Amino acid sequence: MARYLFFFFFSFSFSFYPMILSELSSNQKTTMINLSKSLNVTNISWDINKEPNPCLWKGVGCNSPSNSSVIQISLSWVSLSSSDFLPLVCQIESLQILDVSDNHLRKIPSGFLSDCGKLDGLRLLNFSYNNLGGSLPVFVGFAGLEFLDLSHNNLSGAIDLELDGLVGLKSLNLSLNHFTGSVPTRLGKSKVLKELQLSMNKFHGIIPVDIVGYRNLTLIDFSVNNIYGSVPDEIGELSKLEVLILSSNNLSGEIPQSLSNITSLTRFAANSNKFNGPIPAGIAKHLRNLDLSYNTLSGSIPSDLLSPLNLQTVDLSNNRLNGSIPAALSQSLVRLRLGSNSLDDVIPTAAIAELKRLTYLELENNTLTGLISPELGYCQSLALLNLAQNQFSGSLPMELGKLSHLQVLKLELNLLTGQIPIQIAQMSKLSILNISWNSLNGSIPPSVTSLKNLINMNLQGNNLSGSIPENIGSMTSLMELQLGENQLSGDIPSMPITLQIALNLSSNLFEGHIPGTLAKLTGLEILDLSNNKFSGEIPTFFGKLGALTQLILSNNQLSGEIPKFGSWVFVNTSGNEGLTNPSHTEPPRTSPKSEKAKMSCAEIIFLAVVAAVFAVGGFTILAISLLGYKLVKKKKLIAL
Ligand SMILES: *[C@@H]1O[C@H](CO)[C@@H](O)[C@H](O)[C@H]1NC(C)=O
Ligand SMILES: *[C@@H]1O[C@H](CO)[C@@H](O)[C@H](O)[C@H]1NC(C)=O
Ligand SMILES: *[C@@H]1O[C@H](CO)[C@@H](O)[C@H](O)[C@H]1NC(C)=O
Ligand SMILES: *[C@@H]1O[C@H](CO)[C@@H](O)[C@H](O)[C@H]1NC(C)=O
Ligand SMILES: *[C@@H]1O[C@H](CO)[C@@H](O)[C@H](O)[C@H]1NC(C)=O
Ligand SMILES: *[C@@H]1O[C@H](CO)[C@@H](O)[C@H](O)[C@H]1NC(C)=O
Ligand SMILES: *[C@@H]1O[C@H](CO)[C@@H](O)[C@H](O)[C@H]1NC(C)=O
Ligand SMILES: *[C@@H]1O[C@H](CO)[C@@H](O)[C@H](O)[C@H]1NC(C)=O
Ligand SMILES: *[C@@H]1O[C@H](CO)[C@@H](O)[C@H](O)[C@H]1NC(C)=O
Ligand SMILES: *[C@@H]1O[C@H](CO)[C@@H](O)[C@H](O)[C@H]1NC(C)=O
Ligand SMILES: *[C@@H]1O[C@H](CO)[C@@H](O)[C@H](O)[C@H]1NC(C)=O
Ligand SMILES: *[C@@H]1O[C@H](CO)[C@@H](O)[C@H](O)[C@H]1NC(C)=O
Repeated sequence: MARYLFFFFFSFSFSFYPMILSELSSNQKTTMINLSKSLNVTNISWDINKEPNPCLWKGVGCNSPSNSSVIQISLSWVSLSSSDFLPLVCQIESLQILDVSDNHLRKIPSGFLSDCGKLDGLRLLNFSYNNLGGSLPVFVGFAGLEFLDLSHNNLSGAIDLELDGLVGLKSLNLSLNHFTGSVPTRLGKSKVLKELQLSMNKFHGIIPVDIVGYRNLTLIDFSVNNIYGSVPDEIGELSKLEVLILSSNNLSGEIPQSLSNITSLTRFAANSNKFNGPIPAGIAKHLRNLDLSYNTLSGSIPSDLLSPLNLQTVDLSNNRLNGSIPAALSQSLVRLRLGSNSLDDVIPTAAIAELKRLTYLELENNTLTGLISPELGYCQSLALLNLAQNQFSGSLPMELGKLSHLQVLKLELNLLTGQIPIQIAQMSKLSILNISWNSLNGSIPPSVTSLKNLINMNLQGNNLSGSIPENIGSMTSLMELQLGENQLSGDIPSMPITLQIALNLSSNLFEGHIPGTLAKLTGLEILDLSNNKFSGEIPTFFGKLGALTQLILSNNQLSGEIPKFGSWVFVNTSGNEGLTNPSHTEPPRTSPKSEKAKMSCAEIIFLAVVAAVFAVGGFTILAISLLGYKLVKKKKLIAL
């Protein structure tokens, strides 16, 4: 009997249980059918004839395990443009999650607000990435709503009490709209809010001290608004805060010391404001990421600021910090940016050598002195090393060759002497090498030509002598070669046909005829051979270099007739006594390209390549290297 009963239950649960319990109530089923009809979209197939169980429709979620009621509807990215279906959704009383993000909805109908407001179980509303316009509607009811995402819309106006009725609100996202007025602080009477995302609006005024009434806040993002004044000290009372982002506003005053009291704070960004005064000691104690760049902070870097155990990224660049770089450095550091300050003294060598994870080190545009420490060779993860525009002296240490992951090496505008070490050729990933404007001497080591990933080589403004490595044509990534203002001489070897941005051999000791191999550089935009002793005629193939926009031949010993160039080519032939102008002028042809003021083709390719190089590294580094590139480019144009 027992065995029979067991068998009975066994087969019952297998064969009948799903059939009986996996059915939606007929009411919900009809609503879902009605909903499917009202949607009018082609790319979701909610078809009761093809799939009789709406719980199995794409984007529909039912309660488990019984599947007896719909709890989730996700209609993300299905090209919805009419909001008419929205009130219908509110007939599903069991609904917990509604995601209509990434569509073309223009409004939230009042019928939706009144009907869905009654659904106590509704926890999440996602209207992000739509085209909602007008002002924020008043939310009445919605007693269970925890997540409200209205980001990436076209909402405007000030915010007052519209959201104050949301007693359960834990996460509010209003970023990327056009909201104005002051930072809203009426965000749910019960103050259970945890995440407040207001970035990229037009909020203005001060940070209201009322905000600290929301004791459960873990995330505040006020970035890219027009918030001014100083940050209230009381912010330190938000003892659960993990992320505080105040970037790109008009905030001033000092960075509040009270932040050091928040033990949970892991990320603090206050970059691009007008903060001044000294950096308070201890604020990085618990942090992983600190960004205070682009402010007017002064004084020296607190000795303990860079040492906390968990600290991974620090950006203090573009401030007015002085004194030396603290010797205590966290071994977790991945990125350290201290550029464009007034830091002096030497690099804390011993500490740097321990930074095995350091990937980006940017100390440019300070007044740092001493040697480029050989210990940098121990920073095996380095991908970017920028020590440009300082007062580093001595020679380039051969230990740099150990940096096998290095992609960008910028040491320009220092006081470096001695020869370029042959070990430089070991940095096989190098794509940008800039050691211009130093006092390096000796010849260019032929081994540099093995740097097959090098895009940009800038050795300009040194005392380099001897000839250009014969094998240079094999550098098949090279797009820019700057060798101007050295003492180079001898034969000019065949150049890489990849050269596009510029070939600059100006102000050296080259002589003889302009080499015919230049005819192969059909992608080259700028060629500068000025201030040498080139003689003979200007080759006619220059006229066939279709990408050429600037040809600088001034101050040589060229002779004969100047060939004709299209009107889009800037040609400077001054200072060549033997040159004569052509006897008759041809009508100017029209430029094959549109206005050159825009970014040239080569630049775009170059930027794309650099972008690819840094895809892993995040965009800050990219932005910085591009900025650097632009500056170099500007400088070069000025030099011309
Ligand atoms: C409930 O629906 C899900 C799909 O939404 C399905 O994977 C599951 O098997 C269903 N459960 C029952 C008991 O029907
Ligand atoms: C579904 O639509 C029909 C006709 O349009 C209507 O009569 C019915 O009340 C609707 N049912 C639900 C549950 O919305
Ligand atoms: C359905 O969408 C098409 C275009 O996708 C539109 O022309 C038509 O008017 C819409 N119908 C309804 C009832 O909204
Ligand atoms: C829906 O269709 C639009 C174009 O009609 C398309 O861009 C989008 O990728 C589709 N969405 C999904 C989820 O397939
Ligand atoms: C809303 O949807 C967007 C895009 O689909 C997604 O990135 C975002 O995380 C969602 N918001 C919430 C609160 O789930
Ligand atoms: C955004 O809203 C403004 C009015 O507030 C309107 O002029 C503008 O056309 C809207 N933009 C879009 C893309 O709908
Ligand atoms: C809006 O912010 C919330 C809270 O930080 C987040 O969960 C959500 O993913 C954000 N939405 C988008 C579209 O990024
Ligand atoms: C904060 O969260 C806790 C639990 O996470 C909750 O008990 C409390 O009511 C919330 N609100 C405030 C204001 O502390
Ligand atoms: C920033 O604040 C200063 C005063 O602190 C004010 O003079 C200036 O106009 C503000 N700038 C912007 C863009 O609002
Ligand atoms: C940090 O917290 C302690 C104890 O709560 C308090 O006495 C002190 O004033 C706080 N420090 C700052 C700078 O707010
Ligand atoms: C740093 O600058 C401050 C003023 O901002 C000045 O008082 C101090 O003497 C400077 N310290 C050093 C080491 O130059
Ligand atoms: C160098 O730093 C100074 C401030 O110390 C700044 O004004 C200047 O713009 C910076 N130069 C470059 C090229 O970044």
